[in-house]
Amino acid sequence: MGLIEEALRKSAQQRKGSLRGNAAVATKLARAPVAEAKVPQYRTTPTDRDTMRRNRILPSLTDVSVTRAYKILRTRVTHRLVANGWHFLGITGTTAGEGKTLSAVNLALALAQDVNNWVFLVDLDLQRPQVGAYLGMQYDNGLTDYLTGQAELNQIVYDISIPRLAIVPNARPVEYSSELLMSPRMNDFLYFLQAEPPRRIVVFDMPPLLASDDVLAFAPRVDSFLLVVSQGQTARRTLTNAKEMLGEMNVMGVILNRSTERSDSPYY
Ligand SMILES: Nc1ncnc2c1ncn2[C@@H]1O[C@H](COP(=O)(O)OP(=O)(O)OP(=O)(O)O)[C@@H](O)[C@H]1O
Ligand SMILES: [Mg+2]
Repeated sequence: MGLIEEALRKSAQQRKGSLRGNAAVATKLARAPVAEAKVPQYRTTPTDRDTMRRNRILPSLTDVSVTRAYKILRTRVTHRLVANGWHFLGITGTTAGEGKTLSAVNLALALAQDVNNWVFLVDLDLQRPQVGAYLGMQYDNGLTDYLTGQAELNQIVYDISIPRLAIVPNARPVEYSSELLMSPRMNDFLYFLQAEPPRRIVVFDMPPLLASDDVLAFAPRVDSFLLVVSQGQTARRTLTNAKEMLGEMNVMGVILNRSTERSDSPYY
């Protein structure tokens, strides 16, 4: 884990200055109560309970040690977001299949379970979108439809009947993803995410660092990243390859997925 620690140290040094001065103000702003009447209504769409259970999505999990782990993660992340006045959180990793999407979906759900948080979960893996599928959502339009001008904002934000959570899934994968991520429509979308009341934590499910230039291209727009590392799967070599990129990003911390540390829970 030496490489990760080094990247985290660099990130911590970069953000040192902003941390202290803004902390008190940020805490007050992020924790202001929200009048329900002021919350916009989005398209409601059903999810599928069996699909969620099969995909290990939080509301269907019964393993207490797993739900506890997500709550601890939720609380630690919230503290850092609030202390720094951050709202845009990217979830990435080095290679495919490390558990980024599962972590992003379950973290978004855990964040929304705290009554103080309002959350957008955005599928920003434009080439291999999975968020809608993990939740068993039924929907027509997603983010790439908006980015390519085929849909409007009110057609791509969904209410899945989980309080304080709204989802922006993806319906159609695209090849030219980094171009879309840098497009003027993307700027409009980001403006919407930050201007829409109440101010929300935005969790971006992102592709792997080493698969394309998407994460690097989008990194300046994200306040902070969580890096998903899969025990027994993420190779030291891939972390070495990602070292330079990680140094350029503000990495808040690491999620160790598939940890075998807990004897009562073989997967987490
Ligand atoms: N902790 C875990 N325990 C059991 N299964 C897991 C765990 N984490 C991930 N998986 C499974 O591994 C597969 C890959 O997970 P996921 O889609 O979250 O990875 P990803 O990093 O988003 O992949 P991609 O790079 O393709 O987007 C899925 O089938 C998922 O259910
Ligand atoms: Mg994924």
